[in-house]
Amino acid sequence: MASPLILINFKSYREGAGNNAGQIGTAAELVMQESGVTIGVAPQFTELHPFCKHYEIPVYAQHIDPVEGAFTGRVPAFTVRAAGCVGSLINHSERRLTIADIEATVAAAKFHHLESVVCTNNAAVSAAAAAFAPTYVAIEPPELIGSGISVATANPEIIESSVAGVHRVNPEVKVLCGAGIQSGECVKKALSLGADGVLLASSVVKAKDPEAVLRDLISKI
Ligand code: G3P
Repeated sequence: MASPLILINFKSYREGAGNNAGQIGTAAELVMQESGVTIGVAPQFTELHPFCKHYEIPVYAQHIDPVEGAFTGRVPAFTVRAAGCVGSLINHSERRLTIADIEATVAAAKFHHLESVVCTNNAAVSAAAAAFAPTYVAIEPPELIGSGISVATANPEIIESSVAGVHRVNPEVKVLCGAGIQSGECVKKALSLGADGVLLASSVVKAKDPEAVLRDLISKI
């Protein structure tokens, strides 16, 4: 069976930049090599190329745009691919898109051989996103994001109903869950509810010792 994916979103946290970002990258590489569990990172845009060069871990963008040519201030999918990334988040709760934009962005990701991780806020939107056949749908109830309260314990139903809804539409699409994920217990619960991995941010990015948190996260897989 394929390894679950533990995907760390650095967001725009100050702790997710500079030396701290490097510390997280080093820890992710070490823990992934030792455990065999896939640990992906979504650093800030200016860090994408250095991360792809320096660490043997899957690197994702936090957003891509389905554009090329005369557009300013955008993040073309082909640039992200050229930097060495394996994929991108799409429609994160803090970077919402229209449904038409989501469809076009998933198509751009596919065209440029990038994995797509479409974030959603409830089971109905998860099922709708599955219709575009992304690599992953990541269910994240917005009210729990950054709360320190784990979706796996506070709202297990939303994980189960998202997994069921996504697989009804397209059984090939994998499902991540996120919001408040912070421990091996959360990851174990998420996997037992049918998720293929987790998407998380603050518990790793803001940690004093990110390596210790990563070790705990993979400890019950
Ligand atoms: O992208 C992951 C995120 O939205 C969840 O954030 O801080 O609750 O792990 P956090």
